[in-house]
Amino acid sequence: MEPGTFGLTALAQPLRSDHPLSLRDVFTLLASDLQAWTALPHSVRTGGPAFDRVHGTDYWSFLAAHLDESVRVDRWMHSINRLHLRTVLPAYPWGELAHLVDVGGGNGGFLAGMLSRFRSLRGTLFDLPHVVPGAEQVLTAAGVRDRCTVTPGSFFDGVPAGADAYLLKTVLPGFTDAQATTVLQRVRAAMPAHGRALLLEAVLPTGDTYDVAKLFDVHTLVLTGGRHRTAEETERLCRAAGLRLADVRPTATLTVLEVRPA
Ligand SMILES: C[S@@+](CC[C@H](N)C(=O)[O-])C[C@H]1O[C@@H](n2cnc3c(N)ncnc32)[C@H](O)[C@@H]1O
Repeated sequence: MEPGTFGLTALAQPLRSDHPLSLRDVFTLLASDLQAWTALPHSVRTGGPAFDRVHGTDYWSFLAAHLDESVRVDRWMHSINRLHLRTVLPAYPWGELAHLVDVGGGNGGFLAGMLSRFRSLRGTLFDLPHVVPGAEQVLTAAGVRDRCTVTPGSFFDGVPAGADAYLLKTVLPGFTDAQATTVLQRVRAAMPAHGRALLLEAVLPTGDTYDVAKLFDVHTLVLTGGRHRTAEETERLCRAAGLRLADVRPTATLTVLEVRPA
């Protein structure tokens, strides 16, 4: 080994598929995303998604029609979830929760991680019909399938009712303010008076400072026309949905935003 290469070699280890915290699937570039970026000027000029202009359909409908790409997005989320679990678990009293609905929970990687750590927790995984079948293998491999219900559906129509906690992890930034408000209204309608929602997402800092969330913000605009938000902007969405932002806990990756009925 050349002198000085050890650090780089160690840094590259998590890109291997056999690494216990492998991030390999996070860095695979999707052709459809790259093609959308070619129309970036459209997003800059209009504030709308370049993706729709290039592909003639919106991002979520495209994935539903291209299951190979949808599976790669789910793998990407599954891969990054191992890191997210490590960083957000110490930041919040998750052990207080009895029943957690993971709204837009993908293939269940994050929920499986929660259920395997908290043995009295019950889970409901909620996502689109073409996404949830991927959860069977993930939940079974984690040994938590018996404590988890899998429910297909769209959160614009409604979400499973009566749980004490609703998780929206990296979901709201994928949508416009109007769409995100509707999702929060559906969550509020499903939630009991003592319930809570937990938003896990990258929060934009105010002011003209560098933050990686600002890069995600542009990527999200290009793909879906959605946006990342400051804590104040998220608070406004919550208020419009009959909710209040009760607590904000930053971590080394995502921020945990606790939301309660207003
Ligand atoms: C960025 S991914 C986040 C996945 C997961 N929460 C995580 O962090 O690993 C957004 C998720 O929202 C889901 N989604 C998009 N539109 C939806 C809808 N109308 N109803 C339910 N889920 C939806 C997608 O299928 C996807 O799994």
